[in-house]
Amino acid sequence: MKQFLANKQILLGVTGGIAAYKSADLVRRLREVGAEVRVVMTDHAKEFITPLTMQAVSGNPVHEDLFDLKAEAAMGHIELARWADAILVAPATADFMARLLKGEANDLLTTLCLAAKAPIALAPAMNQGMWKNTLTQNNVQALREKGIHILGPSEGSQACGDVGPGRMLEPLDIVDRLAQIFVSGSLAGKHVVITAGPTHEAIDPVRFISNASSGKMGYALAEAAVEAGARVTLISGPVSLSKPARMKVIDVVSAQDMFAAVMAEMQECDIFLSVAAVADYRCKTTASQKIAKTAEKLTLELERNPDILANVAKLSPRPFVIGFAAETEDLEKKAQAKLMNKNLDMIIANQVGEGVGIGSEENAVTVLWKDGKQEFAKMSKQKLARELIKFIGSFFNKIN
Ligand SMILES: Cc1cc2nc3c(=O)[nH]c(=O)nc-3n(C[C@H](O)[C@H](O)[C@H](O)COP(=O)(O)O)c2cc1C
Repeated sequence: MKQFLANKQILLGVTGGIAAYKSADLVRRLREVGAEVRVVMTDHAKEFITPLTMQAVSGNPVHEDLFDLKAEAAMGHIELARWADAILVAPATADFMARLLKGEANDLLTTLCLAAKAPIALAPAMNQGMWKNTLTQNNVQALREKGIHILGPSEGSQACGDVGPGRMLEPLDIVDRLAQIFVSGSLAGKHVVITAGPTHEAIDPVRFISNASSGKMGYALAEAAVEAGARVTLISGPVSLSKPARMKVIDVVSAQDMFAAVMAEMQECDIFLSVAAVADYRCKTTASQKIAKTAEKLTLELERNPDILANVAKLSPRPFVIGFAAETEDLEKKAQAKLMNKNLDMIIANQVGEGVGIGSEENAVTVLWKDGKQEFAKMSKQKLARELIKFIGSFFNKIN
């Protein structure tokens, strides 16, 4: 189970409870299973354990203050929120949970939790009376309903002399429980090849035929696959997105370049996700010089580009092949036909238009396979990417 934390970037929040002395051990246990850990401490946490200790065990600078000029210049709070594959708060005080639930952002840790898109897990630790209090219980229930993972607490003797529920889980148990968050849909050890963005088909040295694909969906899926533990190769057409970390990125321009790059990666590929909007046609001839505006009419003769998806699906052995179908009409019918005609394992169909699909920030999709389908409602491309990778991972692990 713990292997699911290998290479994960865990942001550990430490709040002001007596169990904070166990947080140093927790960092060591997380690092033992291959996670990278950065620690954020609340002011009150520093009454219980020093930042120096947490820095020494994590091997990274400790983040303490929202208004820290030096920290903002190095890894600012938003960057830190983006860095995290998961936020783990251990111990989580009653006070911290109440503030988190209210959506407060009055210190670095609550601000990070609000900004982050990564899953959040809390390991509550408090006196049994505080834990049993209906106010705390209501808060915990509401946090659960918002999708926040609550790990523990356990029962037993407490620092204050009481006996009952409210003890923080032991560090090894927290590591186990945190790993479980990453298990469903895990792609640990799998090689996932993803294409993204448009292609440019040259007309002359300065002009080309292309489409409105931004590459955002493919990049978000590549990031989500990395988070799920996969080794990812992203083959990207020309986009204006920054190069993602923790994966191999191959930049290509035309459909033919993309075809060659994909085929070169197919020998050891478990899952192929074709998200790129590859141009179906290219110019039969490309002018070697810029075409001058002299003639009244200009006719371009186009010829078919290689069908990357269909060619991958014909390979033997072949990876699990997933296509994307962006359509403006008859979405499901066309996607179903593409699934069958190209012999794909799965197709992700998305309607284009009105703020969804190509070029926009949000997307809503229907996933189709031979004998089933699943709808994913409109949401941000990042969130959707995580949901899709989770779904693909579970599906793939079931059949393999
Ligand atoms: C000695 C001592 C021990 C405490 N232990 C806990 C605890 O285990 N759990 C808890 O929820 N609050 C505990 N508190 C209260 C919190 O420190 C207090 O609610 C604080 O505001 C939490 O701030 P923070 O969540 O921003 O770190 C303790 C306070 C003291 C003085």
